[in-house]
Amino acid sequence: MSQITSYISQYDIQEKVEELGKRITDYYGETSVSDTNPLMVLVILKGSTIFFADLVRRLKLPVTVEFISISSYGNDMESSGEVRFELDTRQPMTGRHVLIVEDIIDTGNSLNAVVNLLRGRNPESLQIVCLLDKPSRRKTWVDVFWTGFKIEDKFVIGYGLDYAERYRELPYIGILQLEQ
Ligand code: IMP
Ligand code: MG
Repeated sequence: MSQITSYISQYDIQEKVEELGKRITDYYGETSVSDTNPLMVLVILKGSTIFFADLVRRLKLPVTVEFISISSYGNDMESSGEVRFELDTRQPMTGRHVLIVEDIIDTGNSLNAVVNLLRGRNPESLQIVCLLDKPSRRKTWVDVFWTGFKIEDKFVIGYGLDYAERYRELPYIGILQLEQ
């Protein structure tokens, strides 16, 4: 059997999400985000969905929501280094404030590819909120504006994050040790 060790509790996640919600709300309160120009919250499927669902309910801002899908991982624990867009949004981004919601930044390859693509669409601003960061694994520099937790180089699952599509439903974040 694979072993799961609890790493970040449900309570600590919720506290962090509340804090991020406040900080993001304060930040966009100083911008031109308004009812006529709502913040575009751009969710990267699938790992970010649970974080997004909690976070968006903490934003006291007018928002619209879009989903994109990229693939950078197969069913193992190492990044392929290649990124493919599988689902894109057709909503115009010109003049919009765009907030990318990501679950975890590892090598940075995936987010960097997304940011490069989106910058070409001339958003008014483009920021990233990421729940988890593994700084020791970084290969490509990415400017993440808000980070939830900086973590060690461990493979984590739960709260949206998967291993081979499993464990997304766990309410906490755990470390997965595979059977040897
Ligand atoms: P990057 O391109 O290497 O930064 O990979 C980022 C993506 O890899 C994340 O959005 C996740 O989908 C996946 N990933 C990276 N590390 C983990 C992990 O520890 N658990 C689950 N998925 C991970
Ligand atoms: Mg992801």
